[in-house]
Amino acid sequence: MIKKCIIPAAGIGSRMLPMTKIIPKEVFPVVDHPVIYYGVNEIKNSGIDEIIFITSPGKESILNFFDYSHLEEKYGDKLKHLSSMIKIISVRQIFPKGLGDAINYGKGIVNENYFAVLLPDDLIFSKKPVLLQMIEAFKERPGIYISLMEVEEKDVSSYGIVKGEFIDERVFKIEDLIEKPEPEEAPSKLAIIGRYILPREIFNKIDNLEAGKKGEIQLTDAIKKISTKIPVYGYVFEGERFDTGNKAGFVKANIRLALEREDTRDEVLKFIKSIS
Ligand code: G1P
Repeated sequence: MIKKCIIPAAGIGSRMLPMTKIIPKEVFPVVDHPVIYYGVNEIKNSGIDEIIFITSPGKESILNFFDYSHLEEKYGDKLKHLSSMIKIISVRQIFPKGLGDAINYGKGIVNENYFAVLLPDDLIFSKKPVLLQMIEAFKERPGIYISLMEVEEKDVSSYGIVKGEFIDERVFKIEDLIEKPEPEEAPSKLAIIGRYILPREIFNKIDNLEAGKKGEIQLTDAIKKISTKIPVYGYVFEGERFDTGNKAGFVKANIRLALEREDTRDEVLKFIKSIS
């Protein structure tokens, strides 16, 4: 039912400068795979067949990672799964004008009624892939879905924040969305995290949008416009989320995964104990 997923990956990664001067944040390593790998794996394990990458000049390494490499002949066991992982299409967003604008580049490619969006900075470790959790909720109660997580009050101004009420254990009926409010304007502490299920009609809404917060074409503004026609649900996912687009979040994601993996766990744990 949800067959395509858009991954916006055209941003500069200013929070991770100077590293991002030479390496896109999407290919920073989390242990031995790039950040983007975990997002692509989540998409594949959610039953989605095709990814539309929205990239910009300098981001070619993202696509190279999923290409065939001659190294497969010698190191097939480590590499073969990557080049056959999923079908990939890439589109260039030359002038970054915001998340809404980036997603709009998928317009000519998405022909299904609904599609998914995954923001790769948001790395989530969970038992069941978060997009799959959302797709299952969508099947039961169709509509727009946005993943949600409660954040601290001091952090609300870094996220889209929603207003509404719970109608199920994890499902929240959204009445309003406010992009990056000041703490005193925020209607809740429930923040939008980078997973969405959106209808194709969203593209028309984006086409007619004026620049919003920070002078950017905001996806939240387009969702707000369509909410009079299609119900908008938040989904409080099961999983542990890391914002790899900021320094502390990126380091924490590495520690978390290193402690999970058998080939790194003992040594890293010993080291952490020794310094604390
Ligand atoms: C975007 C969205 C925001 C959301 C966030 C999640 O903001 O506009 O609503 O909370 O992603 O990561 P960005 O972080 O791209 O500025």
